[in-house]
Amino acid sequence: MKEWVSPPPPIVRNDVAAVQALFEKHVIPSYGRFELVLSHGSGSYVHDIAGKRYLDLGGGIAVTTLGHAHPAITEALIEQSRRLVHISNLYYHEPQGRLAQALTTLIGHGKCFFANSGGEANEGLFKLARKFGHDEGRFEVLTTFNSFHGRTLAGIAATGQDKVKKGFEPMVPGFRQVPHGDLEAMRTAISPATAAILIEGIQGEGGVTPATPDYLLGLRRLCDEKKLLLMMDEVQGGHFRTGRFHSYQRILEGVAGGETFLPDAVSMAKSLGGGFPIGAFWVRAPYADLLGAGTHGTTYGGSPLGCAVALKILEVIRNEDLAGNVRRVGDFFRSGLESLVAKYPTLFRQVRGLGLMLGLELAPEIPNLPGDSSKSVALRFLLGLHAAGLLAVPAGAQVIRFLPALNLRQDEAAEALKILETTAGRIAS
Ligand SMILES: Cc1ncc(COP(=O)(O)O)c(C=O)c1O
Repeated sequence: MKEWVSPPPPIVRNDVAAVQALFEKHVIPSYGRFELVLSHGSGSYVHDIAGKRYLDLGGGIAVTTLGHAHPAITEALIEQSRRLVHISNLYYHEPQGRLAQALTTLIGHGKCFFANSGGEANEGLFKLARKFGHDEGRFEVLTTFNSFHGRTLAGIAATGQDKVKKGFEPMVPGFRQVPHGDLEAMRTAISPATAAILIEGIQGEGGVTPATPDYLLGLRRLCDEKKLLLMMDEVQGGHFRTGRFHSYQRILEGVAGGETFLPDAVSMAKSLGGGFPIGAFWVRAPYADLLGAGTHGTTYGGSPLGCAVALKILEVIRNEDLAGNVRRVGDFFRSGLESLVAKYPTLFRQVRGLGLMLGLELAPEIPNLPGDSSKSVALRFLLGLHAAGLLAVPAGAQVIRFLPALNLRQDEAAEALKILETTAGRIAS
């Protein structure tokens, strides 16, 4: 007997209210969304359903590595999906092996595990830390205030922001936070139960705050001395966003001892798949076999399709020297933002970040800023940018984050600066 399947609901075209009504009725309201209904994109531009075009400097929160609808990604998806989309991790397939090889070549001697998201990649790091310390009764992971490590139960316990924990207590045990950048605080916090330290090279959600070279080198020495794993969360700051594969490599560029710095484990996601959901973690050689057969797994992780897309993205980054582009366009955009900070001191405080991961810190109070005064200055300023055709991402109450495609062009960065200038000028006048 045929199963009864309800007919698909009618498509609602060019009707913002109708799409929002679908969400209100059927989608769990865990996100505070902007009132934009987007339909398609090309390169660094996206369009809403009414046809308005936006320059997208949010990049889907550091995800759309090559921009929207990049033909190489479309081709890779089509080509691989004609052969093998999914097969599970019960079997071998070439794309996963080749992607692991490519990532280890970019990071260092070790091995990779593939997941589906940044949160899941971090879960792998937490399990690695527990396995590493298990026989000595060590299980604790130290992280920093203002960090962000995902929305899973262990991820919110690791995250150094109360707002993600609220309402979900009690927290998973084994995570403690110390002030970011304070090596002595980290040393003092180490207990007989500590197995690992986890930090972001550049805190993203926490406001775009890079670690200093001294902090990174000091953490490496501390972990060696205390026999702890040094784990880096490069989910947001990784994948050439700073002009080097991982943000710690860029931070340590030209610093004595920097080129030989290697963490013990690194999590990745976001730009790795350019919009195809794929995450990964890399583990340094001495610890790469700690998670043996049967200890960890995931159905979709490292599928032929996801790995083919990730390999194609790496190929385009290399062939088009997008790491160089990130440095050139990043420097241009940064100096434009700095000029705005100098020109509008009542609006802006400073620019932080590296390459194409930049944060513009706003003043805590901005007179004449339109919008609901119960909302943060970052949200209200962003609404002004949206109206003028520019997308970016808030980081906390006071920072606007720019995480565009790595192939953003200089003229597009100039267009964004012009929109920012016009918006700022209107508020300041
Ligand atoms: C540094 C960092 N780690 C982990 C995550 C979680 O990644 P996902 O949302 O893919 O689970 C994020 C997401 O913003 C992140 O920025």
